[in-house]
Amino acid sequence: MAGRIPQNFIDDLISRLDIIDVVSARTHLKKAGKNYSACCPFHNEKTPSFTVSPDKQFYYCFGCGATGSAVKFVMEFDGLEFPDAVEKLAADLNIEVPREGLGQQNREPQHKELYALAKKAADFFELQLRTSNEKDKAISYLKERGLSGKAAKFFSIGYAPPGWDNLQNALAPGEKNDSTHNKTIKQLINCGMTVEKEDGRTYDRFRDRVMFPIRNVKGQVIAFGGRVLGDEKPKYLNSPETPIFHKGQELYGLYEARKIRQKLTRMIIVEGYMDVVALAEYGIHYAVATLGTATSEHHIRRLFKVVPEIIFCFDGDKAGRTAATRAMETVLPALQDGLQARFLFLPDGEDPDTIVRKEGKEAFEKRLDKSKHLPEFLFDNVKEQVDFDTLDGKARFGQIAAPLISRLPKGMLKELMQQQLAQETGIKQEVLAKLLPTETQPQTNIHSAVNLDAEFVPDAPDWHTTEVADSETLHPLAETTQLDRQSAKENKQLAALTIKALTLLVKYPQSAQNIEWLETFEPEDENEQLLCEIFKKLKQSPQESSVGLLIQWTGSPYAEFIKDIANQPLELPKGVEPSDDIAGILQRLERRALRREWQGLQHKVANGSISQLSSEEKARYLALPRQLKKHKE
Ligand code: UTP
Ligand code: MN
Repeated sequence: MAGRIPQNFIDDLISRLDIIDVVSARTHLKKAGKNYSACCPFHNEKTPSFTVSPDKQFYYCFGCGATGSAVKFVMEFDGLEFPDAVEKLAADLNIEVPREGLGQQNREPQHKELYALAKKAADFFELQLRTSNEKDKAISYLKERGLSGKAAKFFSIGYAPPGWDNLQNALAPGEKNDSTHNKTIKQLINCGMTVEKEDGRTYDRFRDRVMFPIRNVKGQVIAFGGRVLGDEKPKYLNSPETPIFHKGQELYGLYEARKIRQKLTRMIIVEGYMDVVALAEYGIHYAVATLGTATSEHHIRRLFKVVPEIIFCFDGDKAGRTAATRAMETVLPALQDGLQARFLFLPDGEDPDTIVRKEGKEAFEKRLDKSKHLPEFLFDNVKEQVDFDTLDGKARFGQIAAPLISRLPKGMLKELMQQQLAQETGIKQEVLAKLLPTETQPQTNIHSAVNLDAEFVPDAPDWHTTEVADSETLHPLAETTQLDRQSAKENKQLAALTIKALTLLVKYPQSAQNIEWLETFEPEDENEQLLCEIFKKLKQSPQESSVGLLIQWTGSPYAEFIKDIANQPLELPKGVEPSDDIAGILQRLERRALRREWQGLQHKVANGSISQLSSEEKARYLALPRQLKKHKE
């Protein structure tokens, strides 16, 4: 996998970009005084309230509040993740994106050629569907399946004509010993389009098949699925794993779903290419298919980054049930509060393709709306495995369900399901807890970038004791180096957290109103100072948007800094309140202050005796452990 993009590269890229170029390549901009304006591409409007500032290099919509830098614009407009948006912008400027940890061997240029070749192959197949001598049978096959030309075009469906070397000849013309020819053939083999026999001869992998190009989220062709026109086997032939195609990670239709630029609120996972295409044909543009593999956690996390709800769609037969159970187990660890998984079973013998053609969009969406939510599915599914009417069966039910529920990340859903399990079985929660494996599943977090606890904060070191009289507490010097190490580590964490709090506050200035300012907090560096000041200012005169905040700080030496922060990408997961996150960070800062105070007092005590403390210090000395303990809770 590609390594991280170095931060200095991103900074450099941003400084080279002009947001006006980036936005006007995508939306018609009109000059309006110093700025540019347009109808907002992110919400429906008739009069333009979308402004782009060339000076400040950011955009802002007074209608919907969309705001950000050039990178953010491309992320939102093109529907890309941050690294992909950076790649795209860099490509526009003809610069290569370096990756950390790849060492000397830079794999990118090599991949570039493979992507280009795969695209050429896709173009070739599309052309063949229009021009090949054999095109009629392919076209009539697609027509018989009810596919319109429009849908075929949208998915760039093509045709690989019969014959062993059509593609080779088209993409690698020239003689056998010609070096360009040889190089291209090698690359065709490398990207799975050409197969090499033991004797060195080569032939086209895909022959006489309808071709579905598989695109990554950037829209680059990375592989193909090819379907026979008749009943031959295999029905579908897929590209093998190649340097640019990793089957277990890709989802067919994801790029196309995002390309529509509709607001996506849920996604359906179906089994086949034709299901995705047929659903789209009927106006259901939010289906994706795995590529002949089971749904992986990677797939699920990827979709949950785009939408808060995933609906798994299965055949009603036994294989479908088995696949659903597996999907349920896979989705559990990813189901943070605010995210939903649902399960739709189709009547036996039907798949989304056949059923949407029979019933149409509305009826299909009704099925989706009625599909089972995960809790209901989980309980029903387990009930089917036991004889629930007997005591034995109930116990067995608990034994199977409790470990499943324990796979959920900590949160409301987990709590509620544990409660329901206790209710249904009549087994107390404490007893159910004993049914769990001793090591509970590690908590996994999709949105680690904004997950306070997982990313930055291990458990607070337990370095204070609650009993003041404890002699070890009074002589902590033996632990000094460990404490120093802990405190260096903590400083680093707090520095990162402070930036995070600043970012959140700048992006969601209105959240300041929901947070109680901690009076005891004393800033210890410039960022903390800024955090403190922005906070106080926001308390005095609340602001609703980053732009408002910026205006508030115009002319101050901090304005640039705030602007930079406003331009940093940061997506909060659904259901997470920025104010909760900020408040959590402030509490960490306060805890540090309390600990500093405690440490100082301890030091004094260790060097003399408690009697040397002033009466105020004594009171603090006695109160602090309890306060710290409370804080930790
Ligand atoms: P299905 O057999 O359910 O096919 O396979 P389908 O999508 O309904 O196909 P049509 O409607 O007959 O055209 C579902 C998926 O499993 C993979 C493909 O990704 C297919 O879309 N598959 C299936 C293969 O990779 N190879 C096969 O031979 C069959
Ligand atoms: Mn089918």
